[in-house]
Amino acid sequence: MSDPILVFDSGIGGLTVLRELRTVMPDRRFVYVVDDAGFPYGDWEEAPLVQRVSDLFAEMIATHRPEAAVIACNTASTLLLPELRERFSIPFVGTVPAIKPAAERTRSGLVSVLATPGTVRRDYTRGLIDDFARQCDVTLVGSQKLAGMAESHIRGRPVDGKALWGEIAECFVERDGRRTDIVVLACTHYPFLANMFRKLAPWPVDWLDPAEAIARQAFKVTGAAVAAELLEGFDHAVFTSGAPDYATRRLIHGFGLAL
Ligand code: DGL
Repeated sequence: MSDPILVFDSGIGGLTVLRELRTVMPDRRFVYVVDDAGFPYGDWEEAPLVQRVSDLFAEMIATHRPEAAVIACNTASTLLLPELRERFSIPFVGTVPAIKPAAERTRSGLVSVLATPGTVRRDYTRGLIDDFARQCDVTLVGSQKLAGMAESHIRGRPVDGKALWGEIAECFVERDGRRTDIVVLACTHYPFLANMFRKLAPWPVDWLDPAEAIARQAFKVTGAAVAAELLEGFDHAVFTSGAPDYATRRLIHGFGLAL
């Protein structure tokens, strides 16, 4: 059997990537690593976050011997992909804001990027805008609360529509008779809220979720499984807190993951 692929996030956001990975690579085993003890990543200072995630990978790679890793987290990828690639020999696939495809697709030229405060602050994100979206008006919207709201929503707890609107309102820009037509979901948690976003939006926009593109990239990097197999049993999830609550365990189980 092939070695597993590590999928990493600070919370449940990576599940939006895992479901696409499974569609593209049904013969693969995945280990889903959740740094819930460090959640949310959005407010972390850069240096301690680099240290934390890099050391966590040293441990996870030694334990699970993965063939490759998918960083299903924009906040971590935009900060330390180069560091991880230098320190470890396995291939890393990152998740970074889909600014390039958004710039190619927008018709109005007004694009918004909805992300954590960390991702919005990164030089990497500014670099993507400079390299691929100079011809567009890009609005960066950093939300403190959305990732936590997604964590609640996916566990079946109510999320207040008004509070949610407060976090996304700045994405909707009208200028010279033009309107934002694409909002990049630059945090893997946010696709879980996309149906609510659609209901709140003052006009229809394309909510760009890069999960499928990431899965295709991971397939390119790892290739097909050694032998096509019908896999029995569950993939595994690892929580750094060591103690996910009942709602989390049930959720994880529903995604075909065992603790
Ligand atoms: N899911 C993560 C991302 O894509 C970050 C969530 C958080 O830790 O705040 O950026």
